[in-house]
Order: sequence, then C-alpha cells, then structure tokens
Amino acid sequence: MTAPDPHQPIAAKAPAPRRAGLAVVFALAAAVFGAAVYEFAYRAELDQAAARGRSDLALASDRLTTGLQRYRELAVFLADHPTTLTTILEGGNARSQVEAADALLLSMADKTGAKSISIVSRKGYVLADTGDAIRLSSGATVAFKRALDGALGVAHYVDDAGRRRFMFAAPVFYPGGASRGAVLVSVDVGELEWSWPTDPSATYFTDRAGVVFVANRGELVLRGGIGGDLPVIRARITSGHEVFDLDAGPYIPARALHLTQSLPVIELTGELLLDLAPVRALARLQSGFATALFLTFGAFAWVAMERRRTLAEANSRLEARVAKRTHALEAANRELKREITEREETEARLKRAQADLVQAGKLSALGEMSAGISHELNQPLMAIRSFAENAQAFLERERADEAAQNLGRISELARRMGRIIKNLRAFARQENEAITDVDLCAVIDATLEMTGAKIAAAGVTVEWTCVAPVWVRGGDVRLQQVVMNLVSNAVDAMGDSPQKTLMIEVTDGDPVSLVVTDTGPGIADPDKMFDPFYTTKEVGAAQGMGLGLSISYGLIQSFGGKIKGANRPARSGGGAQFTIELTRAGRENEAA
Ligand SMILES: Nc1ncnc2c1ncn2[C@@H]1O[C@H](COP(=O)(O)OP(=O)(O)OP(=O)(O)O)[C@@H](O)[C@H]1O
Ligand SMILES: [Mg+2]
Repeated sequence: MTAPDPHQPIAAKAPAPRRAGLAVVFALAAAVFGAAVYEFAYRAELDQAAARGRSDLALASDRLTTGLQRYRELAVFLADHPTTLTTILEGGNARSQVEAADALLLSMADKTGAKSISIVSRKGYVLADTGDAIRLSSGATVAFKRALDGALGVAHYVDDAGRRRFMFAAPVFYPGGASRGAVLVSVDVGELEWSWPTDPSATYFTDRAGVVFVANRGELVLRGGIGGDLPVIRARITSGHEVFDLDAGPYIPARALHLTQSLPVIELTGELLLDLAPVRALARLQSGFATALFLTFGAFAWVAMERRRTLAEANSRLEARVAKRTHALEAANRELKREITEREETEARLKRAQADLVQAGKLSALGEMSAGISHELNQPLMAIRSFAENAQAFLERERADEAAQNLGRISELARRMGRIIKNLRAFARQENEAITDVDLCAVIDATLEMTGAKIAAAGVTVEWTCVAPVWVRGGDVRLQQVVMNLVSNAVDAMGDSPQKTLMIEVTDGDPVSLVVTDTGPGIADPDKMFDPFYTTKEVGAAQGMGLGLSISYGLIQSFGGKIKGANRPARSGGGAQFTIELTRAGRENEAA
C-alpha cells in the first residue's frame, strides 16, 4: 500500500480542469435561469399591464363617448323643438321665424360649446344656423342622409379649415309623418382633446379606414389608414398580447403594448399604447434578483463542496497515515510478542536449569554426607543387633523385664533410624510447592540430625538451642538445603582449626534472623563466595562444586529474604559469620 504524501499541498492535487468546467456549466445555468425568470416575470407583468391598460382605455373611451353624448342629445332636443319644426315648415320664408331660430341655435351653441348648429331642409338648404354653416362634405352627407331616413346620423370629417369635426344629425319629424329635415350639431374635436387630462399612455381613436381621428398625442393625429404612416416598425404577439415597436418621437414609447376597444356608437375604435419600459425594467429587476440569489446559493454550495472535498482529502490522508502507523505498530507488536515468547521460554528453561541445579546441589550434599549417613544408620543397626541378642539371652534366662527393656531400646533406635531416613527422603525429593509457613527451629534440628555424623567425625562442637518454634515464610526442604550448606561449609573450614565450635542462633524478630558462626580461618575472598563455581575446595563430588552459596542466595531471595556473609574480627574470636534474614510468618501460626 502506498500512502499519499501528507506534505503535498491540496491545491496541487485539485482537479483544476474539472472545476473550471463546473464553473462554466454553473455560469451557463445561471444565465439560463436568469433568462427564464425574465421571460416568466415579463409575461406576468405584461398580463397585469394589459389589464391596467384596458381599464385606462375604457376610461378614455368613456370620456370621449360621454363628451360627445351631450351634442348628440342636443341634436335630438333641437329636432323636437317647435321653433325648428316651424322653421322647416315655413322653409325659411318668414324672416322673423328664421331670426328666432338663429337666436335659439346661437344660444344653444354658446351654452353647450358646440362648434356649429344648423337646421337643414330635406332638400339640403340651410334654413337657420349659428353663422358657421356646416358644409355638407362627403362625411357629413352620409350622416345627413341617415337623418332623412329617420335615424340618428353620426359623422366625423375634416372641415375646410382643416379642423376635425364630429357631427350628429337628428331627424325633424312632422307629427305622424316622415323626416322633413335635420338638425346638424358639430363639435371641434381639438377643443374636446384640450379638456382631457394628461394621460401617461398614448390613447387614440381610429375610424374604419384606420386613420387616427382623436388622440391625446398630437403627433398621431390623422396618421394611419390605407398606405398611412402610423409609425409602427414591427408588430408581434407575445403571450397573447400585441406588442408594437415604434418610432414616433419622444412622447410615444419605443416599445408598447397595443390594446383596442371598439366603440360602435361613435363608429370609432379606441386604441392605447402602453409603454413597456417599466414592465421590462421590473422583469429585469426580478430576474436580476433571482439570478443573484441563484449565484449566492451556488457560491454557498461551491464553498460547501470545496470544504467537503478538502475534508475528504485530509481524511483520506489521515487514514493512510493511520494505516501506515497501524501497520508499523502491528509489526512492532508481533516482534514484541515474539520476544516475550522467547523470553518466557528462556525463563522457563532458566527455571528448569535452576531447579535442576538446586537438585544437583542437594544430591551433591547427600553424596558428601553418604559416608556419615551410612555410619549414622550403621551405628543403631549394630546397637539393635546387640540389644536383640541380649534380649534373646535374657529371655532364655527368663529375665523378661530386662528383655522388655532391650526391646524398648530397639524400638527407640528403629524410630530414630526411621526419622533419619524420613529426613533424607524428604530432603532428596524435589520441592515444587509455593512458599508456606515453616518452623525454622525444626528445619535446623532436622539438618543437624542429617549432618550429625559429619559433625561428629570432624570433632566439631555445636552450640544450638531453640526453645520455641519460630515461623518464617519459605520451603522446608529448600531451607534445610541452605542451612545444610552453611553447616557443611563451616565444618569443612574448621578442619585444621584448633578450636572447632559451630554457633547457631535464631532471633525471633521481624525479620527473623539466623546467624551461623564458626571458629575457622574465615572466608578467603568474601567478594567471590556467592559466585557460582567459586570454591577453594578440591573440585569433585566428595568435596565442593562451588555451587552451595550461589544456590542458597537464589533460594533465600525467592523467599523474600537476604543472605550475607563476612569474617568476624579476630578479637571477637575470628572465623566466618553468615546471616540470613527471613520474612516472619503471620501471627495466627504463632498462636497455633
Ligand atoms: N565458613 C566458611 N569459612 C571459610 N570459607 C568459607 C566458609 N563458607 C564458605 N567459604 C568459602 O566459600 C567457598 C564457596 O562455598 P560454597 O558453599 O559456595 O561452595 P563449596 O562449599 O566450595 O562447594 P559446594 O557447596 O558446592 O559443595 C568455599 O569454597 C570457601 O572457600
Ligand atoms: Mg558448600
């Protein structure tokens, strides 16, 4: 496994072309989103603007129709007036009648603001007027003819002075007969327009030919029609609405919503051009806002993505590092386990060797003592024989009491032999038990019993008394082995000494101390005596292997105790002195 280099900078590893591609895609998506929002907002605003425009147009149309209504009603009113009828019936022959009619028409025109009013006979003669007689131009003739047919005529036209006129023609009926003539009322459209309030949208009214007749924008007046010059560059339908691109000066919008409303009463069509600049600005604003939001969210997403990627990279680097370390640790662990096993094996081997050594030391000591032991056993055996022979003799002489006495001694000697053999067997066995409570005095007694023969043979006096059991922590046989080596060493050392005394003292304290002192020449090299195989004796089974003290050292240490040896000063009697300290056993044993 190859772990990534943890010191390599992140930027160098980032897939730059992929990120650039992503940025381009994101920018394109933002552009598409912005365009879509613009289109949507534009259409929605267009619907609202259309509704607004339609109500504006309805209002303007109402204003025009109600403005004209007055003159229409004036025409009907004058047609029913008795003066009018009389004037028509007299045909303009009675001067006074004509003057009266002229006065009526003038007063009506003054009151209503009509441009001109005239009473016209069926043959088309003007019988009375306001002095500004209506010439029956082509447009006016149509309305007049409708009046002669009994209907209300409406007409619009441009008069000789170039002014736009609206005209109503009301029929004058003779009671129970057909129309005898007409009252013509005409209005100056320009004057009407002046009274209109300023409207933000261009509103105009076109006739059947498509010519603009009434408008709130002067530049549109009388334009349009067949081959006309209404300034529309382009007309198209956007989501069901008609949109014009125009070029008609500063007061007409460049792009406008075109709305129409038919006005059959005045035979015109109302039209309105609603400026689309605010609509487009609003849509642009909404689109800009939405795009900004989109970009903001995108930026947040981008930052989050970058952070996640950086984190993921750091994480993977960390994982790789952890894996590497784990790998190394596992290897170290395996090595450690192997070493532990090896050490355990070595330790076990060492323990086995130590145990073997202890056993060898013991057997060597037994070998050394073999002569003494055989003497020790031989002596009572001889005694038993002589006691038995004596007993036999006593029995023959029928001296049963003496015979019984001898048998008692035999039994006593046999018990002693049994004890010696038991001690030897116990000593020879390999002690494997853990540490227990041991009576140190009993251990010394048993040892002295085993080495008794050797001590006696060397002519050594032993000074040793133990009044009560002294309990210590240790092993019976192992302690015997230690004491036996000390006693044996002392006896060996005092071989040529004039005074041969072995002093053994036990002090019951905490720790318990055992001091073995001899009157020999002392230790030749106290620094080396605990070293294995250090001996001043002839090497061999009979003498020494130099293992006694080193084995003892190990055994005492295993009991948690201490062993040391030193030479006694000459003034105190000289010789060697060994001190062993042992852990005192618990008080419950003392009580027992
Ligand atoms: N009481 C003593 N007085 C003088 N020297 C002693 C005494 N005890 C021990 N030493 C010296 O220490 C040496 C080592 O004693 P140690 O008991 O370890 O071995 P060893 O007695 O020589 O042989 P082994 O005990 O194996 O039969 C002895 O050879 C002797 O020189
Ligand atoms: Mg020894």
